[in-house]
Amino acid sequence: KSAITNAADYEIREKLDEADDLFEKEKYEDALRKYDNILRKNTNSPRGQFGRSEVLDKLAEQRKSNELLEQCIQGYEQLFSETKDAPLDLIKIAGRRLANRQQFRGWGAMSAKTLKQLTEKFPDDMALQKELGVSYLMSGKNDRAREVFSKVLKVQPDDGFAKVHLGFIIKTQDNAMEAAIPLLRAGIDSGEKGTQDGRFFFHLGDAYQRLGRGDEARKLFKHGAEIGLFLSPDQRSLYNVKTLTGRPWWTPEQSGYQHYLKLLEDNWQTIREEGMKQLDVKTGLFKPEAENLREKGDWKQLTLYQQGRRNKGVCEVVPKTCELIEQIPEAKGCKRGQVKFSVMHPGVHVWPHCGPTNCRIRAHLGLVVPEGPRIRVVNETRTWQEGKFIIFDDSFEHEVWHDGESVRMVLIVDFWHPELTEFEKRTLAPI
Ligand code: LMR
Ligand code: MN
Repeated sequence: KSAITNAADYEIREKLDEADDLFEKEKYEDALRKYDNILRKNTNSPRGQFGRSEVLDKLAEQRKSNELLEQCIQGYEQLFSETKDAPLDLIKIAGRRLANRQQFRGWGAMSAKTLKQLTEKFPDDMALQKELGVSYLMSGKNDRAREVFSKVLKVQPDDGFAKVHLGFIIKTQDNAMEAAIPLLRAGIDSGEKGTQDGRFFFHLGDAYQRLGRGDEARKLFKHGAEIGLFLSPDQRSLYNVKTLTGRPWWTPEQSGYQHYLKLLEDNWQTIREEGMKQLDVKTGLFKPEAENLREKGDWKQLTLYQQGRRNKGVCEVVPKTCELIEQIPEAKGCKRGQVKFSVMHPGVHVWPHCGPTNCRIRAHLGLVVPEGPRIRVVNETRTWQEGKFIIFDDSFEHEVWHDGESVRMVLIVDFWHPELTEFEKRTLAPI
């Protein structure tokens, strides 16, 4: 403890040790009282401040109290930036904790700021740099994150953690597959803590696939499934409920939603008419697919519902379709899915990909179906029929082509996976 004890704390070390003891014995109320006592006489005791914040953190967790968590954060903050004569080792630990708790509280920007200050105080500590990089990534500051991880690699050229993260940024931000692959590969192969993450496997495999290196992709997906990052090599969603039945293609009977499917099929021409009206490039509301899933071609969507919420503006222009969806609780309330018109022009190729979650099943109602378009889900390729549904689980790998001569339009309806409980549907985080 000598490294975290300054001269003044040394004088009161016995009291501090007693308080620490209570903390270690999980007697948090008693420990808090003791730290408070110490701080009453020794306002600036670094160890007292640190111990008190640690206790508040535990109590906040036990009582699920944001108020206590904020007091804990405030304590760390004071120690980190105001307390004079605090030992450097303690400042570092407190700063790290502070950043971690700020992130947990939902204050991502503040957390990044704390880490930035930490790296300025301890410029040679690469672990701190890496934490800062992750924090930038989490708050969407990808350019800053890129700088940080590049800097780490200058100092530690073999750092696997920095490699996977930089590779991830280059892949998702620049779309530069050749540049991303060696970084992701080496990072994953390093086996370092923080590198065995589904997102890195997901994007490395995707990069392989897009470069025609299918064998390497398959091998990697198999490995990812073996270590539990994917449900299976073909089902690579990352937000899952593990117990749900997974199969690429579903029948209406398997879904249990025959009644709702029939309701929409019975009204397919009404739905088609409303979708068609929006096709006009000048007045229509369709938007180009924006998830970077296409190799080529023109693919647009018009989203009526997402994350269980109705898009009011859109429903004003396709009111009858929305009225039908309103009668389907499992679709309109599917917080992990969407309802959307999807229009594909000839020439489209959608790269093989997996949706984000296994909690939905995806039904396509054929509305305008020429010869030419087709969809593969895992090993089986199908086509659409006007007025009829096909149903698949889009957490499985799928790929779409349109080699025809004229436009294809379908209505995509995501339903909750039928095995989810009401509690799960209520509490799962929206996607
Ligand atoms: C997909 O989900 O990727 C495709 O099925 C979408 C579409 O319009 O066919
Ligand atoms: Mn898809």
